[in-house]
Amino acid sequence: MRIGLFDSGVGGLTVLKKVVELLPNSSFIYLADTARVPYGVKTSNEIIKIAEEVSSWFSLQNIDIFLVACNTTNAIALDVIKNKFDVPIFDLIESASTTIKESRVGVLATPSTVKTKAYTKAILNLSPRTIVIEQSCPEFVPMIEMNNINSNQINDIAIGYIKPLLNQKIESLILGCSHYPLITPLLTELLPSSVKLIDPAEALSLKLKLFMDSKTINYANKNSLLDLKFYVTSDPKNFSIRVKNWLNVLPEVNLVSLQKKGCVS
Ligand code: DGL
Repeated sequence: MRIGLFDSGVGGLTVLKKVVELLPNSSFIYLADTARVPYGVKTSNEIIKIAEEVSSWFSLQNIDIFLVACNTTNAIALDVIKNKFDVPIFDLIESASTTIKESRVGVLATPSTVKTKAYTKAILNLSPRTIVIEQSCPEFVPMIEMNNINSNQINDIAIGYIKPLLNQKIESLILGCSHYPLITPLLTELLPSSVKLIDPAEALSLKLKLFMDSKTINYANKNSLLDLKFYVTSDPKNFSIRVKNWLNVLPEVNLVSLQKKGCVS
């Protein structure tokens, strides 16, 4: 089984890590559109075009399962992706929404995701009485991409994003952008212990594992070893350092052009 997943940058690595914890012997192909990160301030039309290009690229990669490891694309262009693929697709927003038990829920997400109210709609669809408060966080992704995750600057910005949610007495907080689990230590420090932090990748990976088990799919690749392949649209060197820091493997990272649908090196 070959599992494909993508994000604008390093965010999807947080999803990959959760999935690898449950499916340690699988084969993964990860695409990061680093040339165009951040997605979260782009228009819907731009995201739809990107989703079409990403889907076309993956349709040449012989994948068996696809994971949408980017909430922004998930919120705006899930249908575009579903129309392109004939393989099972797992997404973050739907997966997380099914696990919500609290009655007052905060969501931190990119401006483009918040604009769609995709989390609110998905949660209310299942539990109509839930109060969902979404907070747009335009400054997080650029800082996380630059690995600026321990500074006073990001600390102050985080306080500003979280304050309105705490004023609304949230009981749980969804990390509605796959980049944000990279700053979990900072967010945990700023939140009261009564507020439960929810990483949608946990629900996604559980759902994927259940799916594999129910189909009695042998997901181990033929060598029964973790097989990771990484592709980026710019700066492979920097990306391989970020993979090393987060997953503790030093992978080969290949440069691709999505517009040409192929490898350029
Ligand atoms: N990590 C992605 C998300 O979950 C994209 C963030 C961005 O590029 O702005 O929304």
